[in-house]
Amino acid sequence: MVSRYSTWSAEAAQQVLDLLSEGERLILPALQALQHEFGYVPREAVGIVAKHVNVSVADTHGVLSFYHELRTSPPAPIIVSVCVAEACQANGSRELVTSIEQSIAPVGSRSADGSVDVVEVFCLGNCALGPAVLVNERLVGRVNLDSLTRAVATARDEVNA
Ligand code: FES
Repeated sequence: MVSRYSTWSAEAAQQVLDLLSEGERLILPALQALQHEFGYVPREAVGIVAKHVNVSVADTHGVLSFYHELRTSPPAPIIVSVCVAEACQANGSRELVTSIEQSIAPVGSRSADGSVDVVEVFCLGNCALGPAVLVNERLVGRVNLDSLTRAVATARDEVNA
């Protein structure tokens, strides 16, 4: 499977950071921009970001460590983000998680074939249509295992296109 992200390099990272507006020259927006481009923020990026936004390496590392949405290693080609916040729980997200764990991978881990990461998130802004799942960038509401399987298959086709 082909990654939908650019290949990391320090030079490419600097180009991404150079495109940030003045208001985005802060640690978190800089780290988010790198993750958006490369799919993750390698430890090597900490010094580059710190220098770019003129803060300490320790502060930058602290932000990278604090937000669990920020990944420090490359993700699988497909990321299934399952909402487990209250409204989705009321609509069966716990049962959905159990099904996902049996058919794809446990939350917080990667499928055996390496193609899918399953992560837990807290609200995707789709509460009225819970349980909600994000499959890469596609939001799916009122999810059951069948519709999730179809969404993953579509994402797989897109990644392989
Ligand atoms: S609680 Fe799941 S989308 Fe808001």
